[in-house]
Amino acid sequence: MNKPLIIVTGKNGQLGWELQRLHYQYTHQFNFLFVGREELDLSNIQSITTFFQQHKPFYFINCAAYTAVDKAEIEKDISFNINALAVAELAKQCAIINCKFITVSTDYVFDGTKNTPYEITDTTNPLNQYGYSKREGELLAIKNNADSIIIRTSWVYSSYGNNFVKTMLRLMKERESINVVSDQIGSPTYAKDLANAIIQIVETLAIHGSQFTNNIYHYSNDGIISWYDFAKEIQSLSGLHCKVNPIPSSQYPTPAKRPFYTAMSKEVISNNFQLKIKNWKESLKECLAELGYL
Ligand SMILES: NC(=O)c1ccc[n+]([C@@H]2O[C@H](COP(=O)([O-])OP(=O)(O)OC[C@H]3O[C@@H](n4cnc5c(N)ncnc54)[C@H](OP(=O)(O)O)[C@@H]3O)[C@@H](O)[C@H]2O)c1
Repeated sequence: MNKPLIIVTGKNGQLGWELQRLHYQYTHQFNFLFVGREELDLSNIQSITTFFQQHKPFYFINCAAYTAVDKAEIEKDISFNINALAVAELAKQCAIINCKFITVSTDYVFDGTKNTPYEITDTTNPLNQYGYSKREGELLAIKNNADSIIIRTSWVYSSYGNNFVKTMLRLMKERESINVVSDQIGSPTYAKDLANAIIQIVETLAIHGSQFTNNIYHYSNDGIISWYDFAKEIQSLSGLHCKVNPIPSSQYPTPAKRPFYTAMSKEVISNNFQLKIKNWKESLKECLAELGYL
């Protein structure tokens, strides 16, 4: 019997890379095809149509995105093309061939004015171009494919690629002290945990079909912290000698405005798909161990 084909975009990104590492455990159940920019350039809508003429997946997991939050303030059109228009086309092509479309979005769709975790039903109001392009991608995905699954996540890191954890480790080795913002609150996400969650979601869909009515889900590790708390834990676990100072966002101006609070409730995703969500410290330890610090 033919195994269902899962196509994953963004194979060279943090999440795509973690899915690649994980997929070996699932090759008895699914066939996989991982694609990067070379195989499927999302800035070229026509190439998406052509791609779907050649491939007929059962599940399509979109891990590719324009993720340079500050640069997006200048590259408005490019970020919108990749995060909104390409997502719309992927969703549409999946609907045509009855393929389940899963795409990843961001906590930056929220304006951060709440002080309790955001629910999937909460109003979005992105403060920056990246958040806006991702929110438009969510809306267009649902418009073009009512069965789309959108997983919003936050503060993604991995032992692979560029991220806050690796930047902190580098700076802590280079400097005697660093300043980290303490008034932006959210939850880190170990890309490996999110990759596991996505595979578990696909497995559940493969067994139970599309009985789930939600389009939007939230996923991160458990725990609500500031970037400063995150940096302090990285420093303490790694044993690097560097003083970490808390500063307000006003002392660290960036081209893109960031929301102050973006913790999200994961109740719906964990209940629907029976996911056990790890605490952020546990996952950070795992990543640091992989990087050779523990
Ligand atoms: N990173 C975070 O902190 C964060 C936070 C919230 C949500 N998210 C979301 O989580 C998802 C995964 O993020 P990530 O951290 O894994 O991102 P990432 O490491 O930045 O990887 C993104 C990937 O997208 C690819 N890509 C960009 N433009 C493309 C194009 N035109 N055509 C094809 N591929 C293209 C990149 O390819 P190249 O390698 O060739 O550049 C890269 O491999 C994204 O949807 C992101 O928006 C991330």
